[in-house]
Amino acid sequence: MSTPRRTVALLGATGSIGTQTLDVLRREPGAFELIAISGGQRLSELAAIAKEFGVSRVGVVCEEDRRALADMVGAHVEIVVGSSGLSELARCADVVVNAVVGFAGLPVTIGALEAGRRLALANKESLIAAAPLVAKVRATPGAQILPIDSEHCAIHQCLAGSSSAPGHPDVRRLLLTASGGPFRGWSKERLARVTKSDALQHPTWSMGPKITIDSSTLMNKGLEVLEASALFDIEAQRVDIVVHPQSIVHSMVEYVDGAVIAQLSEPDMRLPIAYCIGSPERLAHGWGRLDFTKSFGLEFEPPDREVFGALDLAYEAARRGGAAPAWLSAANEIAVEAFLNDQIPWSKIVPVVAQVMDQYEDDPLDSLESLFANDATARRLAHGMVTP
Ligand SMILES: NC(=O)c1ccc[n+]([C@@H]2O[C@H](COP(=O)([O-])OP(=O)(O)OC[C@H]3O[C@@H](n4cnc5c(N)ncnc54)[C@H](OP(=O)(O)O)[C@@H]3O)[C@@H](O)[C@H]2O)c1
Repeated sequence: MSTPRRTVALLGATGSIGTQTLDVLRREPGAFELIAISGGQRLSELAAIAKEFGVSRVGVVCEEDRRALADMVGAHVEIVVGSSGLSELARCADVVVNAVVGFAGLPVTIGALEAGRRLALANKESLIAAAPLVAKVRATPGAQILPIDSEHCAIHQCLAGSSSAPGHPDVRRLLLTASGGPFRGWSKERLARVTKSDALQHPTWSMGPKITIDSSTLMNKGLEVLEASALFDIEAQRVDIVVHPQSIVHSMVEYVDGAVIAQLSEPDMRLPIAYCIGSPERLAHGWGRLDFTKSFGLEFEPPDREVFGALDLAYEAARRGGAAPAWLSAANEIAVEAFLNDQIPWSKIVPVVAQVMDQYEDDPLDSLESLFANDATARRLAHGMVTP
């Protein structure tokens, strides 16, 4: 790369997106300097990353973790704590990769945009929950969001030739592709017997546990509709879902003249990660390169919205706007956690979210205080439904 060395903050460095981002950075030591990282429970992995990359600032979740990490990394590393620590780290680098999972990633999204940084966003939950607030801070001079989520990264690339007019008048619709998850084609009766190990097997991607479960319920695709609507400032009714089991076409844009533009590669998250941190240059590593000397097929089919009720819930949350997406995402986090802790069966995840959404009353979501209050209410209601 010929651009000057960029500084990078990688928040959520110990997870699936985090470790794949480290892979990209290892290949480009002359182009990027990793200056800040954060993690959750995996403190020894966090310490190892800090040592390998010579990182000077590290974020941890609580005081106890700060003391434990300090013993591992030495006094020359500054350790910051909690959400205020994440917010601080999100302001300190040219490129901020938000690879934290769940609502806990909110301070990273807001902090990076407020500071006018490039936000390489994997953490969809923060954007979905805080969409009206993110839209405001996104206007900060220098602030930019590049989506790491492979579907949105594909759409971002497919929109490159589109009109810059608000609302994308030359675009008929965005087509989000979905692998269909491990239960594509299953009946409701069969889904009632799903086990944790069934749900943790994704057919095409290897990811962290929360998004893997979200992919099995198709809530991930529902969340991605909300994410696309917020990212590209387009109504959710113009975001359609197409099941594509091979996960080679990462998403598409259909223009008003009927032309459909797609982005293709083998499934490999390092490709969208490298795009987001390297843009406008493309890093020449060929992650996910397709081999056209071998024959392969691409299939497309509509999703089964009757069996996978998460999709209708997401479209309804988009229609209601305001704090509805925040409720959907918060209730889903609690339900997924309860499933992973063996408190509820897989078949109850989406019904718990639906019952929480039944109690939502319209709220325009005009401040961070209101977002935290809405998030807390949705979590409390969901907790009440998953605890015996
Ligand atoms: N994985 C993928 O291929 C993929 C693709 C598209 C989008 N995404 C999105 O990317 C985000 C990360 O996904 P992932 O699969 O990488 O998740 P993951 O493997 O579970 O990693 C999550 C990261 O967040 C940290 N973390 C967890 N709870 C935290 C908290 N309360 N405060 C601060 N940090 C916390 C974890 O730390 P510890 O591990 O140390 O506990 C870890 O570093 C999600 O929003 C997901 O939807 C992921």
